[in-house]
Amino acid sequence: MSQLERTPKDVARQSSIFIGVMGAVLTFAVLWLTEAFELWAVAILVGVFLEEISYFVIYRAVEKFIDHRIKILYKTISKLKGGDEQSIKMDEDVVEIANQDVMEWAEDQIKEITLLRETDSFRKDFIGNLAHELKTPLFNIQGFILTLLELGLDDPEINRKFLSKAEKNIDRMTGLLEDLDSISKIESGVLTIDPEPVNIVELSNDIADNLERKANDANVNLKVKNTEDFTVICDPQKIEQVLSNLLVNSINYGKNGGKTRVRFYDMGEVVLVEVADDGIGIREDDLIRIYERFYRVDKSRSRHAGGSGLGLSIVKHIVEAHGGNLHVRSTFGEGTTFSFTLKKV
Ligand SMILES: Nc1ncnc2c1ncn2[C@@H]1O[C@H](COP(=O)(O)OP(=O)(O)O)[C@@H](O)[C@H]1O
Ligand SMILES: [Mg+2]
Repeated sequence: MSQLERTPKDVARQSSIFIGVMGAVLTFAVLWLTEAFELWAVAILVGVFLEEISYFVIYRAVEKFIDHRIKILYKTISKLKGGDEQSIKMDEDVVEIANQDVMEWAEDQIKEITLLRETDSFRKDFIGNLAHELKTPLFNIQGFILTLLELGLDDPEINRKFLSKAEKNIDRMTGLLEDLDSISKIESGVLTIDPEPVNIVELSNDIADNLERKANDANVNLKVKNTEDFTVICDPQKIEQVLSNLLVNSINYGKNGGKTRVRFYDMGEVVLVEVADDGIGIREDDLIRIYERFYRVDKSRSRHAGGSGLGLSIVKHIVEAHGGNLHVRSTFGEGTTFSFTLKKV
């Protein structure tokens, strides 16, 4: 056993043996000098007696000392850890064990702090993105209204044009606020689904129509492919959120001249809805993280800068709240396909 692995019990035993042997040797010496060597058995007795007494005394002293010291140590770390009362075992390497516990505690602390820091920087980024995302449409609306006030009003054509532009921006803000609302509902666990029979092909077509301009601006060809109609049980507002998030992503992370296809597959009890693009794709390392709240893959790669990274975490929650599964396949540089299932009526 090395010096480091000695238990307190070993220390007490070894010290007391040393004292016992010394006692016995001294007694032998005294007996020898006083020429009473025939009483040698006394020396052995003295040795054994000394060894036992000193073992008892040293054992208690060491125990008390360590107990006191280590308890203070555990009190300090358990204040934060909420740990249990630690009792001292004299036949274990208590110092080493305490050392390990402290190391573990320190690691926990570091992890906790790192997590707090990450959450904090997430929040900061999030608020920054949010402010930016809200400011842009608000400034636009302000601009349209000012123009109307200054020169429009008399010309009904200009009125209509500017009001509809303002309306589009209000839509954008509403969308963002809805995302925030969803996130806070998901966070507080009160996301409710109001299911009803929905023609999912029709719904997808409506959403694609709404996004037509955005797709054209990005030069992405957006098409809903259907051979037959499917009626599913779902909350139309929520599924609209899912589809528009996936479609907007396919536009934002698509390539110039790319295409996005929405397809439906009959799978017996469920319909598989697929949104496939031929855009920038997602690396395998990032693929497992995209559902994380606020997670965005390297912003510089996409043609689009603003997102908050909330979309997919909302999408995943909504799909799962419907009892479905969200699935993603992607090849970096080639494209991405998201799919999810919905129950048929
Ligand atoms: N169709 C896609 N093609 C490539 N990357 C995608 C696609 N959809 C999502 N991503 C990546 O996943 C990240 C998270 O998406 P999302 O949660 O919708 O947040 P946001 O769109 O606000 O950035 C995006 O930032 C993007 O990097
Ligand atoms: Mg998105």
